[in-house]
Amino acid sequence: MTDHVKVEFDSGVLTVTMARPDKKNAITNAMYGAMADALERAETDPAIRAVVFQGDGDSFTAGNDMADFAAQSKSQGGVLHVGRFLKNISSATKPIIAAVQGNAVGIGTTMLLHCDLVYVAPTARLITPFVNIALVPEAASTHLLPARVGYAKAFEMFAFGEPVDAATAVAIGLANAQVPLEELRGKARNAALALVKRPAGSLAQTKALMRDVGSLQAQMEREGDILRARLKGPEAREALMAFAERRPPDFSKISA
Ligand code: COA
Repeated sequence: MTDHVKVEFDSGVLTVTMARPDKKNAITNAMYGAMADALERAETDPAIRAVVFQGDGDSFTAGNDMADFAAQSKSQGGVLHVGRFLKNISSATKPIIAAVQGNAVGIGTTMLLHCDLVYVAPTARLITPFVNIALVPEAASTHLLPARVGYAKAFEMFAFGEPVDAATAVAIGLANAQVPLEELRGKARNAALALVKRPAGSLAQTKALMRDVGSLQAQMEREGDILRARLKGPEAREALMAFAERRPPDFSKISA
């Protein structure tokens, strides 16, 4: 149970709001669990015909909670819900819409590759800093991002982790449209309400034809195995310690 994810149902639309604005909606294990549950509910409840993801405060999400990453780098145990969240979002048959303002970091960007419509506010900054923290990308983004934006841009985004702004996100096909911040949630909701009226079976089959879920999930497993191993290695430990100590990481004394 967590108060940091709000789930609301209305007029055929399930709205999932990350609600931990003081930490830029950094996603904890409990939050992944709640978001995975929401997607399972959407899948099984025929009344739900579209899902909206959004975040409270000035950021969509700062990505995986760094303290959780640090804890995972030191321990074996515990149930991790991120895998269930990724499995559910990658195999969702109902349309998913995202409303993105401010920072969308790590999984905050890679989850958008599993959304069917993405709207960005002018403040949006899409950041994939997996290499900055000595990990590897997840959510099958190592296949989906180059397929979407081309290898050169995808490698640049992964290797340097520099923000992609809203206009660029639209230009390179990561988002459908840029919308003023005050209209962002309305735009996402109206798109969801329009999709609710579309023939659900036809939409689901169109989505299934557009996405090879089996191969996406196989790539997620490969990424996940490497990411979990890297989390326990010296480079990630240095990066996570540096984040906690608010200093730049120093990888110079660690060999590959
Ligand atoms: N996990 C846990 N806490 C996080 C977090 C994360 N991923 N991102 C931000 N926070 C926390 C900060 O520690 C800070 O907490 P505090 O107020 O208790 O000190 C608070 O959220 C505000 O963050 P701050 O860095 O001061 O905000 P900012 O506007 O200057 O920068 C970000 C926002 C998102 C650019 C920056 O916080 C950041 O780079 N975070 C790490 C993102 C990341 O690498 N995620 C993993 C991706 S794989």
